[in-house]
Amino acid sequence: MSASLTVVDHPLVRHKVALLRDRAAAPATFRRTMRELGALLLYEATRPLPLAETDIETPLERGRFPTLAEVPCFVSILRAGNGLIDGMLDMLPDASVGHIGLYRDHETLEAIEYYFRIPDDIARRPVLVADPMLATGHSAAAALSRLKQAGARRISFVCVLAAPEGARRLAETHPDVPVIAAALDRGLNDKGYILPGLGDAGDRTYGTL
Ligand code: URA
Repeated sequence: MSASLTVVDHPLVRHKVALLRDRAAAPATFRRTMRELGALLLYEATRPLPLAETDIETPLERGRFPTLAEVPCFVSILRAGNGLIDGMLDMLPDASVGHIGLYRDHETLEAIEYYFRIPDDIARRPVLVADPMLATGHSAAAALSRLKQAGARRISFVCVLAAPEGARRLAETHPDVPVIAAALDRGLNDKGYILPGLGDAGDRTYGTL
């Protein structure tokens, strides 16, 4: 397993993940909980970011205080990534957001790209890629390769559920990319769904079941 896999061990995160797993959760509940997890996971994912001393005047005196040295770029793997990105933007509203559209070939489970739009200065920014489900890892690995090809260097990957298969694939293909997950699940079924999982994150977010 990846040395760089961090499973966030926090009661609030575990509670929110359990809410997402519930098949009875309505799309509004699912969306809100996914958004909250986006904010909670960002807390962990931004831990290594550098700070810079900034001149700030409090109501009482002037001082120098640490603020983030660089505004990260978020990248959503469409479409389920958007649910997490909403919560990440709640925390860092100045972040810019790139989008990668990939679909899974149902025969081969390989990722096929249909959309790619990222900021020009991605090489100079910390990049946080969001996809709630790290299943086979095909889409995630393809997205990370594409981002590196476009110049991205300091990349982290944020997900809600990681399957051991996906975490292993990323550790093999992108060992430089830390993975931050809310939970590590048991495995995949023969259709590539995570077990016990939460079903199709995109369909549940957008009520397209
Ligand atoms: N994508 C999903 O939305 N769910 C899974 O279980 C696997 C991939």
